[in-house]
Amino acid sequence: MSLTRDQMLNEMGLSPQWKLREQPAVARAAKKSPMVASIAPPDRTPVVKTLAVEAIASSAASGAEREEQIAQFGWDQLRQSIAACRACGLCAERKQAVPGVGDENADWLFIGEGPGTDEEVQGEPFVGPAGKLLDAMLAAIDLKRGDDVYIANAVKCRPPDNRPPEAAEMAACAPFLKRQIALIQPRLIVLLGRAAAHALLGEEGLLASLRGKPFTYRAGERDIPVVVTYHPAYLLRTLPDKSKAWEDLCRARALMRVAKAD
Ligand code: URA
Repeated sequence: MSLTRDQMLNEMGLSPQWKLREQPAVARAAKKSPMVASIAPPDRTPVVKTLAVEAIASSAASGAEREEQIAQFGWDQLRQSIAACRACGLCAERKQAVPGVGDENADWLFIGEGPGTDEEVQGEPFVGPAGKLLDAMLAAIDLKRGDDVYIANAVKCRPPDNRPPEAAEMAACAPFLKRQIALIQPRLIVLLGRAAAHALLGEEGLLASLRGKPFTYRAGERDIPVVVTYHPAYLLRTLPDKSKAWEDLCRARALMRVAKAD
């Protein structure tokens, strides 16, 4: 059964607080500006014929070599490489890796922590209870999973007992996330929770100290605006902070308008 947006917000206990009061000023149709389109290479998934995916999965390559190799991968090679990765201990119990899901040319990139049990079974990020809340958060700003939205995680394999990923595990997975960002070329990145902020920005502070700060992520020649907000799983446990997450989403929406106008 598919729910309407209002039904979904009600289900999540978010209505009416999460209702969008204004409509986005910039039409969805004007998604990528002509300037961006003219800069972007026509094919965003270069084929690297000389590299074997197995080389990435083995520990033979040094950290820098591995990163350089991954930086040249197209989507298929990236997915294969993630599926076969043995760069950290999370591969030991892996049933399947969860690379990410959505529109590979999305303006919006949401990054969480790492897959949980449901995500590992389904091979898709944010499909459990936190995912339902994330979908409601997206709906509240007129977004939908897969439609101009890509969802990824700091680590692609489930940490045991659903613990937060360790710094070394996020570092091992970082080249994959970096390559995803380079391929997607999002206009805006939303980091969901502390682990994502640590993985992408190197920020180790408390989430409350990171919210509202004007971060950017350097991708090639571009600085992509980054919004840090609470992880949906935390919001499910801490209802009063939902209003702060809503403020963050409104800020993200405003930044997106600016990014589209540039
Ligand atoms: N939490 C995350 O951070 N990511 C998921 O994919 C699911 C739950």
